[in-house]
Amino acid sequence: MRRLLLLASAALVAAENGLDGWLRYAPLPGASRYLHDLPSSIVSLNASETSPVYVAGSELQKGLQGIFGKQVSISHQNCNASSSIVVGTVDEYSKLCGSSAALPELEQDGFWLSTKGNSVQILGRNERGALYGAFEYLSMLAQGNFSQVAYANNPRAPIRWVNQWDNLDGSIERGYGGASIFFENGGVVSNLTRAAQYARLLASIGLNAVVVNNVNANASILTPQNIEGLGRIADVFRPYGVQLALSLNFASPTIIGGLSTYDPLDPSVIAWWTNVTDQLYQRIPDFAGYLVKADSEGQPGPLTYNRTLAQGANLFAKPLQPYGGIVMFRAFVYNQLNESDWKADRAKAAVEFFQGLDGQFDDNVVVQIKYGPIDFQVREPTSPLFAHLRNTSTAIELEITQEYLGQQCHLVYLPPLWKTVLDFDLRVDQKPSLVRDIITGQRFNRTLGGSAGVVNVGTNTTWLGSHLAMSNLYAYGRLAWDPANDPQSVLQDWIRLTFGLDRSVIDTITQMSMESWPAYENYSGNLGIQTLTDILYTHFGPNPASQDNNGWGQWTRADHTSIGMDRTVWNGTGYTGQYPPEVAAMYENIDTTPDNLVLWFHHVNYTHRLHSGKTVIQHFYDAHYSGAETAQTFLTMWESLKGKIDDERYNDVHFRLTYQAGHSIVWRDAINNFYFNLSGIPDEAKRVGNHPWRVEAESMTLSGYKTYAVNPFETASNTTAIVTTTNSTVGTATTKLEYPSGTYDLAVNYYDMYGGKSHWQVYLNNRKIGEWVGNSEDTLGHTPSIYLDGHSATRITFRGVKIEKGDELKIVGTPDGVEPAPLDYVSVLPEGVVD
Ligand code: GCU
Repeated sequence: MRRLLLLASAALVAAENGLDGWLRYAPLPGASRYLHDLPSSIVSLNASETSPVYVAGSELQKGLQGIFGKQVSISHQNCNASSSIVVGTVDEYSKLCGSSAALPELEQDGFWLSTKGNSVQILGRNERGALYGAFEYLSMLAQGNFSQVAYANNPRAPIRWVNQWDNLDGSIERGYGGASIFFENGGVVSNLTRAAQYARLLASIGLNAVVVNNVNANASILTPQNIEGLGRIADVFRPYGVQLALSLNFASPTIIGGLSTYDPLDPSVIAWWTNVTDQLYQRIPDFAGYLVKADSEGQPGPLTYNRTLAQGANLFAKPLQPYGGIVMFRAFVYNQLNESDWKADRAKAAVEFFQGLDGQFDDNVVVQIKYGPIDFQVREPTSPLFAHLRNTSTAIELEITQEYLGQQCHLVYLPPLWKTVLDFDLRVDQKPSLVRDIITGQRFNRTLGGSAGVVNVGTNTTWLGSHLAMSNLYAYGRLAWDPANDPQSVLQDWIRLTFGLDRSVIDTITQMSMESWPAYENYSGNLGIQTLTDILYTHFGPNPASQDNNGWGQWTRADHTSIGMDRTVWNGTGYTGQYPPEVAAMYENIDTTPDNLVLWFHHVNYTHRLHSGKTVIQHFYDAHYSGAETAQTFLTMWESLKGKIDDERYNDVHFRLTYQAGHSIVWRDAINNFYFNLSGIPDEAKRVGNHPWRVEAESMTLSGYKTYAVNPFETASNTTAIVTTTNSTVGTATTKLEYPSGTYDLAVNYYDMYGGKSHWQVYLNNRKIGEWVGNSEDTLGHTPSIYLDGHSATRITFRGVKIEKGDELKIVGTPDGVEPAPLDYVSVLPEGVVD
């Protein structure tokens, strides 16, 4: 029986900066009463410090000390000591401690965990399996779970990789948690402490390899000096059972090899890659393999030489094969398209490029497929390519870094989104064909397969830039281990490990997290229209127009009367025909297409009625209002936890949730204004374009400020903001407030741009009630903007301000750098009003 400690949390822990993630080993309330039940020694069956078994011993020691304050010694033999934790491989155990015949069969990386009284056995099939078992046992203890257990736990798939998009100059593509922990100035950093700490976190959730450099790879990663540096990274990863892998630039033989070709069939090219691979294995004997982005978004590839993608992948598979290395070959291959062609469709590209190649890839090639056919959008249908590769191993590519989903400035717990794909049944040959069974190799009998997650941690002590975003990394590992895991129960493990066992903490963070992706979908792009962020610039704030009239193929095809991509076979791009018949039939017919993907598959009038009974346009309006309203509640829910979480993390999260509450309103209004403007159809509830509690900055009395037409127009209330007349003029905006006397929240919407730190002060009858600085480019971490737009638009709220009718409100803006202290509007909000 599982015995969970549900004790009220005792005195609060000291301030925490997030560095330990979920491996805090925080003192367990009431732990002393369990002290005598705990093992009093650790036997780790490997005395070499670089062995994961040795590390398992040290982690167990550290854990018992942290969680229970119990000091336990470690030895490396004497495995039959009573009251001990024995950790090692099954083989070592049988050799040193007698038979292990009773153990069930274990797979690579699997482990056996048995806790009988104070005698604990943790046996891995291999060394890192033993370490995984130790982390699992520690996770139980840290959550107050003292159940007696005896079970084998095997990963469902061998590939459980992390992709980092780190550049050699130390920047990270789509990274929001600071600079690279691996690279700077063209080479590997000298201090690899963070790399080792990262490996520890990854090992604790069963992840086993990291591709350390960007898929848009710089060929000079392969210089002898960099191979030596990579060797140092691999050395600090190794004790955690984490292997190193590399992204390759397909044209490396010409860029750094002095060859005149990178044709994959050219003998000199083959010899070049063989030599590089040998050199890598000489320095890194456990090198995991290569990740290849070829013929995609300007990256070189085999198509240049009229060779197939399979020939391109096999070029690397062959030299890796003798060493047991693998090639992760990305399916993210597409061309620019012309929107005037009704049948053009980027979503079809992957199947078109890969379909005929099934069976032509070497056995150590794995095709790495993004969950949807476009690019990590807030909702996408399952990539149909999963149904086409039956004689090829596949892995799903997920994105932990929230590139299109709020860049760690919005709370978005991602596993429920991932599950829409992992649990999707493609019905290949009319048989159950869940994506999770395809990637684990089960459905098509493949020995390789699994998951790749784009993580992009950085030097920030929170790793991802936000404490709460770490639930996504934790859950990614747990789902890579077993994609059938339940997002909510995984989340709750993470909460207990990260914030403790207080019931209200668990319930509150669970509720916020589980509501977060639906809320984000509601206030960004719903009904399958994609995220509606600015795809040409930051990928952060709203800019629906950016989807169309360019070659990127993320089109919405919105005009004055209608919206959506017709992807049907009968009248559209024919994409639905890429699915097996049962799924194709469901999406081909609008009546059987779920509302949440209707605009992905069909082009309809704004007045089209959904299954819900609402029109498309009214659904847009309502969903944006309800999503933004939910985002306000995250802040109040979090505030209910004050005093139950250390101040450092409490304040950090509070800052981000405050930002999200404001930015969700920016999203809501931008999207609603845009489609109201386009369709001319009013909101039945009369909210859109109607803001009785707002004072537009441009309608205030201005001195040193001038009006400014914001582009895109929908990212300013009433399309207009104000900016200081010059970059050195202090601006003043004044107005009389004609609302009934009372207590209000005063929200000021402004723009915080990159390239300046303006200063604003708010006065009521010449009494200062607040001031702030526009420095979010330093504090938030999202890709900043140099314009007034949906990325820089933000809000600050002063709560509980007493206002008398006729009071004078004055805002003084002092520009800085290129930032002209921009202001959009002020909302004077009575209790309960969100606007
Ligand atoms: C997205 C992302 C790019 C990335 C690409 C990829 O388009 O914006 O930064 O390089 O995906 O996955 O290759």
